[in-house]
Amino acid sequence: MSSQTISEKVTTRTLKAMKTEGERIACMTAYDAAFSSVLDKVGVDLILVGDSVGMVVQGHATTIPVSMEEMVYHTQLVVRGNERAMVMADMPFMSYSNGPDCLKNAATLIKTGGAEMVKLEWGELEIDMVRRLTECGIPVCAHLGLTPQAIHKYGGYRVQGREEYAAKKMQEDARLLEEAGADVLLLECVPEGLAASITADSNVPVIGIGAGARVDGQILVLYDVIDIAPGKRTRFSKNYLEQAGSIQDALKQYVTEVKEGLFPTKEYSFS
Ligand code: KIV
Repeated sequence: MSSQTISEKVTTRTLKAMKTEGERIACMTAYDAAFSSVLDKVGVDLILVGDSVGMVVQGHATTIPVSMEEMVYHTQLVVRGNERAMVMADMPFMSYSNGPDCLKNAATLIKTGGAEMVKLEWGELEIDMVRRLTECGIPVCAHLGLTPQAIHKYGGYRVQGREEYAAKKMQEDARLLEEAGADVLLLECVPEGLAASITADSNVPVIGIGAGARVDGQILVLYDVIDIAPGKRTRFSKNYLEQAGSIQDALKQYVTEVKEGLFPTKEYSFS
């Protein structure tokens, strides 16, 4: 199965089959219909309507101010521009801090926004929330490693899972999240070896951002890739526009490099 040649809609089954067959999954964030359409056409498999919208579009310093209403609005725009890729939407800060809110807000992203999967960031409550969403038939991506909604707790953006106990805990959390029903795991800013070990242990696709090459797929923030994100680009993001003649070519090159295992190199990974 090659996503460059097939045009069928990507579903959770497609993503699972890609993991099984060793086809790398190309993912990217988008926040509107125009970019969603470009990403879809260049063969991106999974589009994330990220709460990074708060930083790269709205100009906030963190993702924390993003509201449910804003996530629903941006999800609607992305869904409208897309045909083939699967669309997942971030659940914003504190929108899943208890069972009833989690179910109500996930349902809104699916029913009103048109998302096909929701993403939650790691916290001690996440396993229970993933289980509840799974029981309701809502596909879930569980985000581990650096979880930007907890930035004030961390006291800064830094690589997670470097200490032995932290690595063990992340590996165990990943296992529990899969057991609770997570359809996809996303690892952000994790040492390459730990990400590879979590990927080898899991039966669901593992997508990395700053997690090295030995995972099932890659995701980056769109505005970093086309070099228009405000502030300093993260160390694990690559500017694809630099070598390309157009945004379309830059994004096509990203998909090619992910599919061929050429991105990320060590330069964009952590050890
Ligand atoms: O919101 C976002 O863009 C994300 C990515 C960093 C994975 O969660």
